[in-house]
Amino acid sequence: MSGSTDDGSQPRVLVAGATGGTGGEIVDLLDRRGVTVRCLTRSSANRAALRERGADEVVVGDLFDVDDAARATEDVDVVLSAVGSTVVDRFRGDEFVDGVGNRNLLSGAVDADAEAFVMVSALGVGDEPSSVLGSVFNLFIPPIQRAKAEAETAIREAPISHTIFRAGALTGGSRSDDVHVARPGARLWGPVSRADVARVVVAAPWTPEAADETFEVVRNPLVADRSLAIDWQMPGG
Ligand SMILES: NC(=O)c1ccc[n+]([C@@H]2O[C@H](COP(=O)([O-])OP(=O)(O)OC[C@H]3O[C@@H](n4cnc5c(N)ncnc54)[C@H](OP(=O)(O)O)[C@@H]3O)[C@@H](O)[C@H]2O)c1
Repeated sequence: MSGSTDDGSQPRVLVAGATGGTGGEIVDLLDRRGVTVRCLTRSSANRAALRERGADEVVVGDLFDVDDAARATEDVDVVLSAVGSTVVDRFRGDEFVDGVGNRNLLSGAVDADAEAFVMVSALGVGDEPSSVLGSVFNLFIPPIQRAKAEAETAIREAPISHTIFRAGALTGGSRSDDVHVARPGARLWGPVSRADVARVVVAAPWTPEAADETFEVVRNPLVADRSLAIDWQMPGG
């Protein structure tokens, strides 16, 4: 991604999951970075809070609805997806926002000719060997992990530049700017703050080394020898 679009306007970035822990950190990071920030939420009650947090535009919609996903992605240049199911959602049905929701979002992004799509996924998703932490995620929330895997596959096959982050156990707390990322199969394990995940998610479309990559991401000095050195570039420099 460059700093401006073909017509010279600033890039429009959609944050899906903007009211969530990671999504909120993403919105904070995008503030005053020369991009138009559009946030998606299912509830209009979140409009004012999202505006206050830095959203230039708020779309109210549900990613299970294809038309809502199309509205949310209209005229966007970048989609950052931090949507996710709650543990309770696991018992409500067999469709999850992690799967069908991300796929609807992806279709909208492709139809809108967006340049980049970034998804927050989880350790253990996919066929590569994973750490014990990834296996624990697979054991406790298998349908959600499978839904994420389906979305990952669709994203990798779509005609759009992408980056997927398979995160370790998400925590609160501040940004360290010291995360470890590695290609799938590196078996990374450990926690990572939502703020640290947000930084790499925001940076990915502006970081050439992150294009069309899937990364495991944690903050754990014990796995430093397995991690890649990436010069993350933020929008706006
Ligand atoms: N918890 C962990 O340890 C862990 C580990 C690895 C990966 N992850 C993944 O990391 C991601 C971020 O997690 P988080 O804890 O920061 O998220 P979160 O706080 O649970 O937020 C989830 C977001 O998803 C949105 N959402 C849910 N269903 C939706 C739908 N049908 N349509 C549109 N939006 C919908 C919600 O928006 P509204 O309610 O405003 O609509 C909310 O903003 C998730 O994909 C999660 O699975 C989590």
